[in-house]
Amino acid sequence: MKIAIIGGTGDQGLGLAMRYAKIGEDVVIGSRKAEKAENAVSEIENLLGQTNIKNLEGLSNPDAAVLADIIILTVPLQAQKATLDSIKDYVDGKIIIDATAPLSSNIGGSPIEFIEVWEGSAAERTVAILKGKNVDIVSAYSNISSSSLMNHEEDIDCDCLVCGDNNEAKLKAMELVNLLPGVNAIDCGPLSRTRIVEKITPLLIGLNIKNKTHYAGIRITGLDKK
Ligand SMILES: NC(=O)c1ccc[n+]([C@@H]2O[C@H](COP(=O)([O-])OP(=O)(O)OC[C@H]3O[C@@H](n4cnc5c(N)ncnc54)[C@H](OP(=O)(O)O)[C@@H]3O)[C@@H](O)[C@H]2O)c1
Repeated sequence: MKIAIIGGTGDQGLGLAMRYAKIGEDVVIGSRKAEKAENAVSEIENLLGQTNIKNLEGLSNPDAAVLADIIILTVPLQAQKATLDSIKDYVDGKIIIDATAPLSSNIGGSPIEFIEVWEGSAAERTVAILKGKNVDIVSAYSNISSSSLMNHEEDIDCDCLVCGDNNEAKLKAMELVNLLPGVNAIDCGPLSRTRIVEKITPLLIGLNIKNKTHYAGIRITGLDKK
């Protein structure tokens, strides 16, 4: 299974690419510029202390989307529409996992405040942008800090809240999430639940600032207790 990380040159995408490449998954990093994606591959190789990682490559966003079985979108809200427009011809039959958190900082404000999105959430905005396409949108990763992802020698100490309307697509996304060491994927129900989940991200950023750390995350407990 080929995982394309669209906008994978930024903090979140790079962290996900590194984690998945490290455990042997087939990963392609996408960027507006192929050269920038290739540089991101070199950065990961340096960080992992390996050369020529066979299961990792860097391409333009459209070329990455063409090759993908599953797509992870890791761009800021202000880049969401243009980025999706650039790959929309290559998404039919695929799953897109949207990691976007709509933060006030996306429009010049504070990262500890969220902004309302007309469609209800960034993930639902992805659905609206890709209207007419045969694609399943799942929301995940928006509460996992890039610092935890990049800290690849340690497990990631948080759960990942996953939302989606198509159960089969959601289960595939949850399988992928569960490959991240330390992370439990939690099925949070339909995509509209993302309206709640995306708002946790600015809360975590605020907790990071208050506690002078970069690793705040959440755990859901008690789900197995009867
Ligand atoms: N960073 C975190 O800890 C974290 C945690 C949870 C969720 N998230 C979410 O994950 C997403 C990515 O976060 P990030 O911190 O990795 O973002 P980022 O570093 O700001 O951007 C990621 C990539 O998106 C592309 N991009 C940035 N601005 C763009 C623009 N104006 N137009 C088109 N493309 C643009 C760039 O790729 P190219 O230049 O290579 O095209 C960039 O490397 C965001 O939605 C964020 O809310 C982040």
